[in-house]
Formats: sequence, C-alpha cells, structure tokens
Amino acid sequence: MSAHRTTTAAIKRRLSRLARRRAAIALVGLPLAAIGISACGTQGISLSKSNPDYAGAVIFRDHCSGCHTLGVVGAIGSATSIQNRVKTNAPNFDYRKETVQQVLFALRNGGFSGEVMPINVVVGKQAQQVAEFLSKYSGLKKTAEPGETLEAAK
Ligand code: HEC
Repeated sequence: MSAHRTTTAAIKRRLSRLARRRAAIALVGLPLAAIGISACGTQGISLSKSNPDYAGAVIFRDHCSGCHTLGVVGAIGSATSIQNRVKTNAPNFDYRKETVQQVLFALRNGGFSGEVMPINVVVGKQAQQVAEFLSKYSGLKKTAEPGETLEAAK
C-alpha cells in the first residue's frame, strides 16, 4: 500500500514538472512569435521624422507595403522567389525607378495593367505625397541594363 502511494506521488510530481517545463517552453515561444509577426511586411522607416518625405514614407508603409518592396520603409511585399510568388506580389521599388507621373497614373488606374492593384488606394494630397516620396526613393538599387549607362537607367 505504501509502495503504491509513493508511486502515485512520484507520477504526480513528474507530471507537474512536465507541466512547468511546458509552460516555460510556451513563454520562450511567445516573444519569438511576436518577432515573426513584426518581421512580416514592414520593419520600420529609416528616414528621420523631420525629413520632408517622412509623410510620404508613412503613406507608403500603410498602403503599399503589403504588395511592394521598398527598403527605405522596410517594406517586403514583392516576391522574393519564383516559388513563393502570389498574385499580389508587385514590382520591387528598390530596383524599379518611378516618376511622380508614373505613380499617379498607377494610383488612378490600378497599376499599369489595372488588373491587380486596387484603384485609388490613396487620392488627392496623399497620392501626391507618396508619388513624390517614391520618385525619390525608388530605383536606388537599380543597375544599368546591358548597353545603358547607369545615369540613363535612372
Ligand atoms: C493589393 C496589392 C497592391 C497594393 C496595396 C499596391 N499595389 Fe501598386 N501594384 C500592384 C501590382 C500587382 C502591380 C503590377 C501590375 C500592374 O502594374 O498592373 C502594381 C504596380 C504599381 C506601379 C507600376 C509599377 C511599374 O513600373 O510597373 C506603381 C507605380 C505602383 N504600383 C504604386 C503603388 C503605390 C504608390 C501604392 C500605395 C499607395 C500601391 N502601388 C499599392 C499591387 C499593389
């Protein structure tokens, strides 16, 4: 009888130790999950708040970064490989240079094709601000195409 009691107590102790360990593992997992979430989509704007283009960067982060990549706001919406491509993966603005007029056109018409990007994601003053911002900060990693000088590429 006493042997049986010891066994039960031992099992109970072992179970509660397991439960504690599981709780500890869950606690360690939580902050990792939080990092995972914040790493997806945006990682922060690297312009200072006093920069006149900061407002445009915030508009880009809030309305464009889900589909487009742009390093200066930490946006990674474009496809990173052919295997994990989805329909909303849009041009990577680190490599593609856009003018103010091109951005305004894309905003009014839903990209250049009108097929995937929503029309009028932003309008009016916000459209102008994000267009001016993007015309300055797009294409920063663009390299010259064969037979083209880098200045002509930009
Ligand atoms: C739901 C996804 C989505 C969102 C949000 C989005 N876009 Fe797009 N965008 C696309 C896709 C896909 C394309 C490429 C296909 C096309 O041009 O029709 C594109 C194309 C463009 C182009 C033309 C690029 C080129 O050179 O071919 C510009 C400029 C542009 N987007 C700007 C923006 C801006 C600025 C915002 C935010 C205000 C924005 N987009 C938000 C999906 C999106």
